[in-house]
Amino acid sequence: HNPEIDRLLQAYEWSAKFYHYLLKNTEHGKAAMDYLRSRKFSDKMIDQFQIGFAPDRWDTLLQFLERRNFDLAEMERGGLLSARSEGKGYIDRFRGRIIFPIANRAGKVVAFAGRILGEGQPKYINSPESKLFNKSRILYNLHQSKASIRKTRQIVLFEGYGDVISAWESGVHNGVATMGTSLTENHASMIKALADEVVIAYDGDRAGQAAAMKTLSMLEAVDLRVKVAVLPGGMDPDEFVSEYGGERFREQIIESAVSTVKFKLIYLKKNHILLEEDGKIAYVKEALQVIASLHSSTEREVYLKEIASELELSYDSLKQDCNLLRASMQ
Ligand code: UTP
Ligand code: MN
Ligand code: MN
Ligand code: MN
Ligand code: MN
Repeated sequence: HNPEIDRLLQAYEWSAKFYHYLLKNTEHGKAAMDYLRSRKFSDKMIDQFQIGFAPDRWDTLLQFLERRNFDLAEMERGGLLSARSEGKGYIDRFRGRIIFPIANRAGKVVAFAGRILGEGQPKYINSPESKLFNKSRILYNLHQSKASIRKTRQIVLFEGYGDVISAWESGVHNGVATMGTSLTENHASMIKALADEVVIAYDGDRAGQAAAMKTLSMLEAVDLRVKVAVLPGGMDPDEFVSEYGGERFREQIIESAVSTVKFKLIYLKKNHILLEEDGKIAYVKEALQVIASLHSSTEREVYLKEIASELELSYDSLKQDCNLLRASMQ
């Protein structure tokens, strides 16, 4: 029990309500509300995820906190205010940004992420790590998804806020996000304690797919069953839902998530031009590394046959190379 932490929790709770109110009920929030609507955020989701808006001013939250007698230095340490660059005093940390409150497992707001309206850099500003907020120990939306996770023993893992929110509206209620940072061992053991299976649903762009490769080995290392959702054309889950709707998202993306072996093969294939002999041979070599490490001969057969028919090779020669590789791996 720490009084500074209690005061900070109180400040975050009230600030989240304040920003949510400003978004929904004031002239300041209008442009932000238009932006959210253009991205198909519904009123229901705006309420449920307590999305807010920080006006483009220096002292909106500063005055709010001052009137409530919060210690401003403490609020700066907690990430709600910034120290002025010149002279004494403080200014709002979040200005002209959509606010996504980040809650801990108990549902208490411990940080904010602020998204710029439209294009611009940096896209997101986050609360700094503090006594309350440790990015490597928090999964966005775990407080709301834990009931569904407990029932299904499955977690769907996203990159970002919008992905979790769109998925929720599509009926996927066991989604959490690592908030862009790579999954930590801490996250992996948290997940292991809650679920038996993880569906990785990272962005379909190169960065997202590369991150999925890393994440899947970390999750397999703690003996979780892992599947990977494959997004078309570099889309992220939020964009897919906007474009094709929630039902297709559930059926074609989440429920159609592929095995990690399949995903690795898809991932490796993208680096090669299969119409050229060199490319074909190089891909087969990499694919065989993946397949040779499988313990089940049935599984090896399934994937070898797929590759054989896809690349018009004989199953026998693939199997032979695979067995040679296995012998050298012993
Ligand atoms: P993305 O760049 O994929 O953003 O980063 P996004 O979630 O799709 O955001 P929109 O749809 O453009 O609004 C994925 C996540 O990485 C973190 C955020 O948590 C984001 O949701 N991130 C990204 C940051 O923390 N800071 C950044 O500048 C960018
Ligand atoms: Mn509300
Ligand atoms: Mn991304
Ligand atoms: Mn994204
Ligand atoms: Mn997005």
